[in-house]
Amino acid sequence: MRVIHTLAELRAALAGPTARPAFVPTMGNLHDGHLSLIRQARAQVGPAVPVVASIFVNRLQFGPNEDFDRYPRTLARDCELLEGAGCDIVFAPDEAELYPQPQTFKVLPDPALADLLEGHFRPGFFTGVCTVVMKLLQCVQPQVAVFGKKDYQQLMVIRRMVEQFALPVQIVAAETSRAGDGLALSSRNGYLGETERAESVQLSLALQAMREAVRAGDRDLAGIERRATDALAARGWQPDYLTLRRRADLLPPSPEDLAADVPLVALAAARLGTTRLIDNLEI
Ligand code: PAJ
Repeated sequence: MRVIHTLAELRAALAGPTARPAFVPTMGNLHDGHLSLIRQARAQVGPAVPVVASIFVNRLQFGPNEDFDRYPRTLARDCELLEGAGCDIVFAPDEAELYPQPQTFKVLPDPALADLLEGHFRPGFFTGVCTVVMKLLQCVQPQVAVFGKKDYQQLMVIRRMVEQFALPVQIVAAETSRAGDGLALSSRNGYLGETERAESVQLSLALQAMREAVRAGDRDLAGIERRATDALAARGWQPDYLTLRRRADLLPPSPEDLAADVPLVALAAARLGTTRLIDNLEI
């Protein structure tokens, strides 16, 4: 496995007759969820095509009061894990390499999708994500890129960007990897203290309760959402949202949608202490 820090070196490594690679963009501090994306990338293209992972903590997608400065940077360990998972090339540029000038050209995602949910609570977040993903796709020029359903709205925003700009890349969705107790794996789980870690499972339990209510025939979605939100708040969480949405566009389902059984997804974001966790569950 090669670890590459410059765009020139990356382009040289990928030039020539080799097939266009499979790609997994990350911000590092890798866990089994990221590694499952690497394995999925490999499964997509087979043994002969390079799998590239990027590690870049993208300042553009962090708000002024968010955790950019304390986001864990663990490159050496990340590289060991990537090598073990069968990655061929790690692209780990620093900020001066990826943003040699201030990145003043941006990709503005469709507000109908990007201003909801995460975009509502993290203004500018999806502009930052789209801008860096667009740029990384230009750097790596992959035939396929793998994203996790853990970041459900991000996956949808990227899919729409790729469609609308006719980018020649296939986007593949990977299922969410979870700890034994159900907590979705996340680099931010490392912020949790011992007691918080024990409590954190309540987020996925709340989503499961929402799913069970819908499956049992309850169609009072507002009531389901309120009960889930109140239950977490009563345990000391600060919920941003726990909500049931249409999978197709993340909008609230109408009564007609419910009668027609359109596919739904339960999505949640909530703070436990200073740590903001997100998760979702397809119904
Ligand atoms: P990061 O949070 O490092 O996640 C990188 C990729 O791993 C994303 O596609 C994310 O959905 C996926 N992922 C994270 N946790 C997962 C889990 N438990 N199971 C499955 N997949 C999981 O998402 C980002 O970085 C950034 O926004 C990025 C796309 C790299 C742009 O900066």
